[in-house]
Amino acid sequence: MKSVIDIPDLSVEEIDELIKTAGDIALHPEKYAKSCEGKILATLFYEPSTRTRLSFTAAMMELGGNVLGFSEPGSSSAVKGESVADTARVVSCYADIIAMRSPKEGAAFVAAKNATIPVINTGDGGHAHPTQTLGDLFTIYREKGRFNNLTVGFCGDLKYGRTVHSLIEAMSRYPDVRFVLISPDALKLPTFVKYEILARHNVLYTETDSLEEALPSLDILYMTRIQKERFTDPAEYERLKDSYILTVEKLASAKSDLCIMHPLPRVNEISVKVDKDPRACYFKQVENGKYMRMALILKLLASAKENPETEDLLAGRSVLINEMKCTNPRCITATEQELDHVFRVVDAEAGICRCVYCEKKVKADSEMMKRVVRR
Ligand code: NCD
Repeated sequence: MKSVIDIPDLSVEEIDELIKTAGDIALHPEKYAKSCEGKILATLFYEPSTRTRLSFTAAMMELGGNVLGFSEPGSSSAVKGESVADTARVVSCYADIIAMRSPKEGAAFVAAKNATIPVINTGDGGHAHPTQTLGDLFTIYREKGRFNNLTVGFCGDLKYGRTVHSLIEAMSRYPDVRFVLISPDALKLPTFVKYEILARHNVLYTETDSLEEALPSLDILYMTRIQKERFTDPAEYERLKDSYILTVEKLASAKSDLCIMHPLPRVNEISVKVDKDPRACYFKQVENGKYMRMALILKLLASAKENPETEDLLAGRSVLINEMKCTNPRCITATEQELDHVFRVVDAEAGICRCVYCEKKVKADSEMMKRVVRR
């Protein structure tokens, strides 16, 4: 049984297959109208959402299935202190598949370890958002017909923007992709993406704080909202909130076939006047996301039927267990009871490890490194 917590949980071939299915669903929705009859999707949303929750709901309804769940933690037993692990076990008795969003980084990972049904991460803090990426990839495929040989600009909050982290991870696997990372200094791409994804895949990238300078070279511009809710200092948010505003005037220097994307919600980073520009693709992205979510639900339910065993998410990895604690306050380990602190080894010689839940980097000493276990 497969869960999708992060982009590496899906191979390039599996993504190709999902794109094919989503394309067929878009053309022949009637063929799929009863595919999930008798099946239930649980949407567990501990954080606000419009598109992701509603598109999962619409996706399951259009497949003929049913949906239950909650859209804020206040209406669940989370307020009474129920753990994510227990919630996942309980919901496994009511549903066939779970879509979970949480402000805690690694929450969906914990849910997947404890559920007996597939879990889909629909956003965990500032970490990852793989199903937004699937919709983004389908949009790029429909607009550009390819994933290779593209210059992709990411603009805005690259630090906390989880959709950016997941899309960079997915696109890094295709040849001849170049990234232009456009952000203020304080909101640059985190090192776990820069050094472990971009460097590992040998991807060419440049960093700049100027949208105007970057625009003419881009095939795709991925605008993002400054993620107010992730700032610990409100004054810092006020200072950065209007860093970038894409206007009709600025777009004059862009390519005629530029594809303008945004995961939405938009605050003010794209002027509404841009919506009329044929290069604006962000509302198409919303529709494409629903088709990809339909394809993903079908795939994961089929995999659960074929093999009901829960996949070991750490299989084949070298890990350190409970040798140190993760210090990221947004990590699920900060609140979940009795959770092992697990770190995967990134660089054995230097003792560099990363928390398996939130990717926070830690350094282990040589004594700890002697206790590394291979899963
Ligand atoms: C994004 C998210 O939740 O990360 N929205 C979405 O799912 N479409 C982007 C955002 O909130 O800025």
